[in-house]
Amino acid sequence: MTSGVVGALKLAVKAFTKKDDYVMIMKPVYYPFDASIQVNGRQIVECPLVFKDNHYECDFDVFEKQIIDHDVKMFILCNPHNPIGKVWTKDELYQIGTICQRHHVIVISDEIHMDFIYSGHQHVSFCNVNPSFGDICTAPLKTFNLAALQTPNIIIKMKLYVKNLNIKKMPQE
Ligand SMILES: Cc1ncc(COP(=O)(O)O)c(C=O)c1O
Repeated sequence: MTSGVVGALKLAVKAFTKKDDYVMIMKPVYYPFDASIQVNGRQIVECPLVFKDNHYECDFDVFEKQIIDHDVKMFILCNPHNPIGKVWTKDELYQIGTICQRHHVIVISDEIHMDFIYSGHQHVSFCNVNPSFGDICTAPLKTFNLAALQTPNIIIKMKLYVKNLNIKKMPQE
């Protein structure tokens, strides 16, 4: 548990990247994403979303090129995406995760708006797209208007890190 999703994003940036590393976000996006990178002395890389046929899309060639060009270490996903209201599909999330894995980019998925979906769409959690895909932030605060209770959850696939760090045993609590 954490007192805030934004605070958790800041902690994740600090924990998993080094000073001056590049962290990527898709623009336009919820404005504290910028701050979570900058207050830690990391650099922002933008992957601009493309407005096409009345909806936003990710240009996955640009997404991958930005990662390569800047040696990006972390990507903060907004799923569903605030402010454009995009509900990422399983296929899109798979592409995001696959590209990030190819370049060893850690993905943190902010899923705080998961319960606000227009009919005809379905929220797919990033961590459920593939067993090897990473961590998500959720909270009841948007759904039930409970921001003052400060009760978000960070769901971390610990085994993934144990495997990546080549640790043989899970740490004891
Ligand atoms: C995408 C997104 N993440 C996080 C938050 C805020 O989360 P918290 O108050 O837990 O930091 C908001 C609030 O609008 C949001 O839109």
